[in-house]
Amino acid sequence: MATTGLGPDRVEQLIEELSTVEKIGQLTQYFYLRPPQSGLAEAALARAGAGALLFVTDPAEINRLQRLAIEGSPHGIPVLFGFDVIHGLRTILPVPIGLAASWDPDLVERAQAVAAREARAVGIHWAFAPMVDIAPDPRWGRMVEGAGEDPLLGSVIAAAQVRGLQGLQPDNEVVRDEAVRDASIPEGHVLAGAKHFVGYGAARGGRDYDEVDLSDQQLHNVYLPPFRAAIEAGVRNIMCAYMDVNGVPATGNHRLLTDLLRHELGFEGWVVSDADSVRDLTTHHVAADLADAAARAIEAGVDMEMATHQPAFDRLTDALRSGRISTERLDASVRRVLAAKEAMGLFEDPYVDEEAARTILADPTHRDVARRAAEAGAVLLRNEADLLPLAPDRLHSVAVIGPMADSPRDTLGPWVFDYDLDETVTVLAGLRDRLDGQAQVDHAPGIPLDERRFPSMFAEMGEDATGSPADFDTAAEFDRAVRTAEAADVAVVVLGERQDMIGENASRSSLELPGRQLTLLQAVVATGTPTVLVLLSARPLDLRWAAENVPAILEAWYPGSQGGAAVANLLLGDATPAGKLPFTWPRTVGQVPMSYAHTRSHSPDGQGTRYWDEESTPLFPFGYGLSYARFAYANARVEGPDATTLDGSLTIAVDVTNTSERDGVEVVQLYLHQRYGASSRPVRLLKGFRRVAIGAGATERVRFTVGPQERRYWSSATGDWTLDPSTFEVWVGGDSAATLRTGFTVAPPGNPAVADPSRGRAPRR
Ligand code: BGC
Repeated sequence: MATTGLGPDRVEQLIEELSTVEKIGQLTQYFYLRPPQSGLAEAALARAGAGALLFVTDPAEINRLQRLAIEGSPHGIPVLFGFDVIHGLRTILPVPIGLAASWDPDLVERAQAVAAREARAVGIHWAFAPMVDIAPDPRWGRMVEGAGEDPLLGSVIAAAQVRGLQGLQPDNEVVRDEAVRDASIPEGHVLAGAKHFVGYGAARGGRDYDEVDLSDQQLHNVYLPPFRAAIEAGVRNIMCAYMDVNGVPATGNHRLLTDLLRHELGFEGWVVSDADSVRDLTTHHVAADLADAAARAIEAGVDMEMATHQPAFDRLTDALRSGRISTERLDASVRRVLAAKEAMGLFEDPYVDEEAARTILADPTHRDVARRAAEAGAVLLRNEADLLPLAPDRLHSVAVIGPMADSPRDTLGPWVFDYDLDETVTVLAGLRDRLDGQAQVDHAPGIPLDERRFPSMFAEMGEDATGSPADFDTAAEFDRAVRTAEAADVAVVVLGERQDMIGENASRSSLELPGRQLTLLQAVVATGTPTVLVLLSARPLDLRWAAENVPAILEAWYPGSQGGAAVANLLLGDATPAGKLPFTWPRTVGQVPMSYAHTRSHSPDGQGTRYWDEESTPLFPFGYGLSYARFAYANARVEGPDATTLDGSLTIAVDVTNTSERDGVEVVQLYLHQRYGASSRPVRLLKGFRRVAIGAGATERVRFTVGPQERRYWSSATGDWTLDPSTFEVWVGGDSAATLRTGFTVAPPGNPAVADPSRGRAPRR
């Protein structure tokens, strides 16, 4: 455990002793990038003008800069080092959406604990993760960083990530527990920062950074729950968002950062701005100048500014002098930042052990966790005639086709910086290794890697560009790929989006496979060789042709350092797919945003024909994913009376049988619909799920509790959280299109609970 630190008294004493300039310094975080930013940051350290840095990952550099900070501060206050540890530091885990697709909070927690251990080993104290933004629009590139469209799945995965990163174990589900909130962060863990508060995923048109207009019911029912879950899990930091929310930039939004975050959600940690988002209050044409921007951010509830330029917070002195900001308000922010340093044991032990870092980064158990996570999150979308798993003893040759099949950088995905490409197992390398001595594995890229029309901002930051050689012979390579496929027993075609086509500043107007990938796929399928499509992607691409013509499709996400090993294990049956989609998969971009949790409307029968030119149903429903095992659901029922009171709970049980001869894992899902009440409620809403291992031929009884927590919602009719007496329909199954149903009634207060007469009958549609 970290040492207890100097305690709150010492924090108070420090606050009394610090000059105004030193206090403002504590509230400023500098990017440490190439010159000139690095120079700006070092100058700030030398004059006690920085409370935190970001983007340094070399332990020797961290120690050098820490020494500058301590020596530059009259009170010897160390800085916090923050970094985007989104899905691993050196050992790269699957991207967050891929972790979420496991629907397995324990695994997600273990995975993020590995990320935290590596980060802490190099001297990082604070991860800008988890990103808990709900993402309904797949045009938005940042959906790769979150857990998809659903507030319950998003909440469970958010809490798991916070526990994994921070290492604090709350002992019940409500974790407003002071012991967790105030405890030191244990050795091998870091402070977590949930982001971006709030509504970022609702960007208009899926265009990153564009404005967000969010109704209160969407805010409370959809966008806030994962933040609430992160806070209840003890998250220490929140990052606010860049964009306008209902016309007010999130960074200057008192209603969001104070009324909601502090008063309603009870957050007690510190709020950091997004990069330069304080200064950008002037860019939004809200703040008159930098001094006004700094004051507005503090007034709204920001504690720390993240800056690549001269910070706006330098100008807080103006606001203090004029009395616009009080010393008490400033001190409240300083107190929160010093408390974070205290929780990290930084006052006792500010430096990092450079030797130990090397050993921890090389720990082979980290790679096992990364591989297992990639296996657990992969989603099998199609498997006609049980093409998968491939039987290695009957395979003589495999053609691995596609420009990403052997691209280590694209196997890792976006939002990683400290990776080791030599340690990265591509799909080609994974299959070659797995089939060594058993089958011939040939590779042909077929087509060059497609480029973005407008380059990625990460390319400007010096991020490795991937690409095909300049002398790539397009016609000859295409023919070679087709011939390679033709000659093989099976073709594994690896397609998707390059890693820089998703992530921040990577929104798209189309969901098609970029470039000539579909043409290549069609040519391979036309050879008659059984074809498996492996997708490296993180948004639902337009798979209308593939979903009818390619017998097997595996969504592998960007599976990380061990991605190719995981894909090989899945294709050859050493691992059985069990991942489920964390979002609704539309047929075409014209349908987005599309959520399974829409309301019935006055015309529910026409849901599938809302457009005259294309079905308005999804290609794959939310929660969907196949397995090599098969599961049958039966006996969905309420245990005990099927009626309850407003504050009562009941138990829904279902029997799930593995009808196959192969052990498997199923994510059992429960959906609820309220038949009447203050608001129209979604046709289905996920209210419980459990990932259960079920042996071949075995039956497991799975139970869910449905109580007020599952039934309450925020209604714009009441303007508040609401619990309605009503009739509820319940579906249980392996995805959101489940057909097995039961139901129950909730009686109004004072009335005896009565059985639901409609139970067992098909709902009117
Ligand atoms: C992103 C944040 C990230 C920060 C620091 C910003 O552009 O929006 O999510 O943590 O940069 O890298």
